[in-house]
Amino acid sequence: MDKFAIAKNGIDPNLVPKRTLHTGSQIPAIGLGTFGSDRFSYEQVAEAVKGAIAVGYRHIDCASVYGNEDEIGKVFKEVLDSGEVKRDELWVTSKVWNDMHDRVVESCEKSLKDLQLDYLDLFLVHWPFPNYHAEGCDITSRSPDAKAYIHEDFMKTWAQMESLVEKGLVKNIGTSNMTIPKMKLLLRDVKIKPACNEMEQHPHFQQPKFFQFCMDNDIQPIGFCPIGSPTRPDRDKADSDTVDIEDPVVQKIAKRLNVHPAVVCVKWAVQRGQIPIPFSVHQNEYLGNLQSVTKDPITDQEMAEFSQIDKNCRLIKGDVFLWKDDQTWESLWDLDDEITPA
Ligand SMILES: NC(=O)c1ccc[n+]([C@@H]2O[C@H](COP(=O)([O-])OP(=O)(O)OC[C@H]3O[C@@H](n4cnc5c(N)ncnc54)[C@H](OP(=O)(O)O)[C@@H]3O)[C@@H](O)[C@H]2O)c1
Repeated sequence: MDKFAIAKNGIDPNLVPKRTLHTGSQIPAIGLGTFGSDRFSYEQVAEAVKGAIAVGYRHIDCASVYGNEDEIGKVFKEVLDSGEVKRDELWVTSKVWNDMHDRVVESCEKSLKDLQLDYLDLFLVHWPFPNYHAEGCDITSRSPDAKAYIHEDFMKTWAQMESLVEKGLVKNIGTSNMTIPKMKLLLRDVKIKPACNEMEQHPHFQQPKFFQFCMDNDIQPIGFCPIGSPTRPDRDKADSDTVDIEDPVVQKIAKRLNVHPAVVCVKWAVQRGQIPIPFSVHQNEYLGNLQSVTKDPITDQEMAEFSQIDKNCRLIKGDVFLWKDDQTWESLWDLDDEITPA
């Protein structure tokens, strides 16, 4: 890897909008995803993190389960040692994986060690289920120990999350892959409410009710798969899935702005109010995504057209976390506004 230096063709991070959380923290309105899946090596993802910080990204979305936090940690150390970027200018998120719900502090300490940091800006419970699945497994794979959502258990996990704030290891805590009924119970019982909720959000899966619920409760939505994860592995694709970047509205705006349709998805997300965390290892792509939020807004008319193209098309269905053989993925998502019983 080349030595870290701010890129000449980058974006001034001060031009990138920020959102203020209920805790008072300010989070950049776009981040870089770091899940390389089986398409990119850990080193390639770490190199992209370094390149992204060089061009002006100040928000990086990590997770222990992505397997690459130690590689990314080497980049953070190099960046911070260079003195070009200060720790309080960077926003780093990590997540506790499903097999560590009863050892949250240990998981956080491991992420901090791997990332070579002494605090995280945001720590999330990656999934509200403690269910394990083998890396790269087929969607029909089930863990024999898999469980339904059990609120009492989740609150025990959440209490450990709260203790991280009290210990000064993390500034903010949050959730991911939740639903409205689960969030209502959590909000009823918390000492510290989530600052952010990471959820799948792209033009064909806008989750309008849950998005509004988060906004009404001052929980900042962070949108994953903001481009509709067009190159995700085949095992994560279903015949009924639609392709956001092929949508005529997205393509029409892309043509007007002379950008790739992926960039339009990112711009829409920021203008709507969720924080997109697009992934790419290619400089032209991650720079284009960042640049897009600093200029050429989508018009009000185009924003209205976006609200007509939602197809309720969930891509990350989570089948591997189901706890019964005869269930379908819908059981994970409480579609009747009630938590699916055990
Ligand atoms: N909390 C959770 O449970 C959860 C779940 C899933 C994801 N995430 C997070 O969300 C991040 C993003 O999700 P994702 O990677 O699945 O999907 P995504 O960001 O929607 O799509 C990423 C793909 O879009 C393409 N792309 C990106 N920018 C582009 C541009 N400007 N022009 C053309 N193509 C572009 C790239 O394809 P090529 O590589 O082919 O160029 C890239 O691999 C992850 O990395 C992870 O950090 C969180």
